[in-house]
Amino acid sequence: MHKIGNISLKNSLILAPMAGGPSTPRLAAAVSNAGGLGSLGCAYESPDQMQRTIQTTKSLTEKPFAVGLFAPLQDPVLNNDQIEKATAALAIYRKELEINTIPSLASPMSIDFDRQFEIILKEAPAAFSFTFGLVPKECILACRSRKIVTIGTATTLDEAQLLIDLGVDAIVAQGVEAGGHRGIFSLTGEDPQIKMLDLVKTLSQTVKTTIIAAGGMMTGQDIRAALNNGAHFAQLGTAFLLCQEAGTSETYRTALLNFKNSKTDLTRAFSGRIARGIENRFLKEMKNKAGSILPFPAQNNFTRDIRNKATQLGKSEFLSLWAGEGVAKIRSLSAKDLVEILWQETSVV
Ligand SMILES: Cc1cc2nc3c(=O)[nH]c(=O)nc-3n(C[C@H](O)[C@H](O)[C@H](O)COP(=O)(O)O)c2cc1C
Repeated sequence: MHKIGNISLKNSLILAPMAGGPSTPRLAAAVSNAGGLGSLGCAYESPDQMQRTIQTTKSLTEKPFAVGLFAPLQDPVLNNDQIEKATAALAIYRKELEINTIPSLASPMSIDFDRQFEIILKEAPAAFSFTFGLVPKECILACRSRKIVTIGTATTLDEAQLLIDLGVDAIVAQGVEAGGHRGIFSLTGEDPQIKMLDLVKTLSQTVKTTIIAAGGMMTGQDIRAALNNGAHFAQLGTAFLLCQEAGTSETYRTALLNFKNSKTDLTRAFSGRIARGIENRFLKEMKNKAGSILPFPAQNNFTRDIRNKATQLGKSEFLSLWAGEGVAKIRSLSAKDLVEILWQETSVV
């Protein structure tokens, strides 16, 4: 048995929370039922949606699962110059996609964390995970009193120390290879770009907290390397994107399947925060327009219409195709089979 706080698992695999579509109750439940820890990425869900998502997952599994949110943040204050530049930078895409309106940048730009957190306490999933910094200490204490395991995300040793001071039960050590958003605490700071194995080694030599490796792992061999270097668990996101149970859109699935000669890169272009995705036209062209990108989450709200229309039209060149560096090794399997195969591969000596 593999223990994370008071949770006992058959294997040390964790499904990453994947907000924005890929996370579904079926996917989380399938991973939990197969002996790992399933997760729901609920950051973009309203409290009511979150409650339904969690309750549906409970109806599909009696095993533990985690619910992931973004740490609370304040809306950025934008000036006219920033909005004009961002509007101009995106104009050609709106024209091409025949979008005639410009999205609102009114506050609130994200769903109220306190109301989302109320659902965590009400539904009491086995674990609560978060990224993008720290949550208030009261949240950690409230989780502890309800026996909800808390998991924070770090991309450096300094961030891990802050999470330990906060009192989390486990830390996701997210390497630069990871798909999706980087968990970097600073909204605007440089990416330290530490590789997963280096971060895991540093943390395992320095801290006593449970370490969950994340970033670029697609096979049991990758997972074993992380565990051999001091990680207690491995959290995988990209590996699960083609599972039937995932909510990955058809356009996104096609791009993942056609990845072959492509590459992934880091970008702020879609949301304003650094994230790793498959290099497509939007990601490439926006490299020359770095000064026209709004801070998170304004840019995310400002590009959503483009991403939604592109999904409808099957145009993956405008989508945030979040994927880790290992994406070429992605497999199309059911989540149950994928967990079982990953664990067999991990256990082969
Ligand atoms: C599509 C996608 C969405 C993600 N959304 C979240 C999220 O909502 N919350 C979170 O903590 N991490 C999120 N991540 C990052 C994962 O937690 C994890 O760090 C990453 O998937 C590990 O790298 P890998 O994708 O190479 O396995 C996301 C990753 C992907 C691929």
